[in-house]
Amino acid sequence: MGREPKYWANPESFEPERFENNPTDLTGNHFEYLPFGAGRRICPGLTFGLTGVELPLAQLLFNFDWKLPEGINPDNLNMIENSGMTASRKEDLYLVATPYDPSPE
Ligand code: HEM
Repeated sequence: MGREPKYWANPESFEPERFENNPTDLTGNHFEYLPFGAGRRICPGLTFGLTGVELPLAQLLFNFDWKLPEGINPDNLNMIENSGMTASRKEDLYLVATPYDPSPE
């Protein structure tokens, strides 16, 4: 359902901006998007799960500057996913992390 072209434009593309100004939420009220299920068997760990993704990601983005290794062009990254219960990358993504120092120079 999450990739049904009837409901989603370019369903196979990674376009997080599709959720901007979009009333679809993930609490089980919109059947075209049910990452946590719906109804009486909806995932009881919904907020725990979201926090477990958002907090580590925010920490990584806040504390490091990220760039691609020398000579790697973003247009040439292979964005194909493995198939399975969760969508992981088929090819590992290598990044160079530089600790971010917020103090002014
Ligand atoms: C991003 C993380 C997570 C996702 C995407 C997710 C997704 C789901 C989905 C799709 C279901 C099935 C709902 C249905 O049958 O309609 C489910 C069920 C469930 N989830 Fe999660 N979940 C996540 C994290 C968690 C966490 C952190 C916990 C517990 C700490 C948890 C506990 C459960 C339990 C106990 C059920 C079974 C509920 C039932 O059958 O009554 N989940 N989850």
